Amino acid sequence: MFAANSDLLLRNIWYHALPSRDLKPGQMRSKTLLNEPILLGRTQRGQAFALRDICPHRAVPLSCGRFDGESVECCYHGWRFGPNGSCLQIPSLMADQTLDLSKFDVRRYDVQEVQGNVWIYMADPNPQQVHPPRFEVPRIPGFPEDAQPQISYTMPFSCFVDHAVVGLMDPAHSPFVHRAWWWRGGNLNPEIKWFDPSPYGFTMRKHRMENMGRGYWLLGGVPDNEICFYLPGIRTEETTTSRHRAVNLTTVTPLTSTTSEVTFQLYWDIPWMGLLKPILPLLIRTFLGQDRDVVIKQQIGLQHESVLRLIKDSDTLARWYYQLKTEYVRSQAENRDFISPVKTQELRWMA
Ligand code: FES
Ligand SMILES: [Fe+2]
Repeated sequence: MFAANSDLLLRNIWYHALPSRDLKPGQMRSKTLLNEPILLGRTQRGQAFALRDICPHRAVPLSCGRFDGESVECCYHGWRFGPNGSCLQIPSLMADQTLDLSKFDVRRYDVQEVQGNVWIYMADPNPQQVHPPRFEVPRIPGFPEDAQPQISYTMPFSCFVDHAVVGLMDPAHSPFVHRAWWWRGGNLNPEIKWFDPSPYGFTMRKHRMENMGRGYWLLGGVPDNEICFYLPGIRTEETTTSRHRAVNLTTVTPLTSTTSEVTFQLYWDIPWMGLLKPILPLLIRTFLGQDRDVVIKQQIGLQHESVLRLIKDSDTLARWYYQLKTEYVRSQAENRDFISPVKTQELRWMA
């Protein structure tokens, strides 16, 4: 049995902040991540940065001020801050009034830009508990560091992050949640897949997609499929043939304890797939919308019931998710290596 009402948010770990294209040079945006107000910006020279969105003077959000592409000016008394958080100027000071400006620096967050996304390192708010990253920002295999997703779609989910993550990885909901005349009926078929532990998560072992129908000549052969899950809520699904590759990256980021954001992106190297660009956002919105709607219904019941009964094998991925989270927190608290709770095994379910 698993408690549904845990509000545990993982710290000292990279989270997806936003797609790079949503942050233009000279632009700043405010965003709440893990209940913290954050100002995300990009300098005129293209460097992305993140600061605590609260002026250290008298707490006005810095995002209410102005950004000239190099520094942020608070709208209240005009204090100025650089992209690294350093306090650069206090306009009310007379020439002979000296102050150590560095005492008024604003907290900065580490950011990294990888393959068209800005990632943010959400360190523990307690300075004693801050640890450097234990693992890298996940990379989309087979694509260069500066690759951009061809499709990027973000949808808010009004639930705690766990329910969005578990809902999206759930292998047994499709026949009920994603039933549609143009996609699939309610018939159930056996699914048998091998799973292996992988760094801070698990992998559904690469397998041939033999029953994909007649469409695979478009991809240049029968494709292989591999799905990886990583903490804190990142999933990649790779579909490859000898000639081509298409990868889906789905990230779930907690905004607050009751709201999350799901970003669904596609990378591909298949020229004709460009033709699908106009209809893909529609399909993604429909599918993700179905996943969102069912977890919103789940919130109704969770107000009265906090116990989740996770069964074998179809809820094994959900169990692993909760176990991975628990182990992540323990390994941090004990300052030791992470020991994966996932064991290689074959899972069987009807879907
Ligand atoms: S509150 Fe920001 S400068 Fe005074
Ligand atoms: Fe789904």
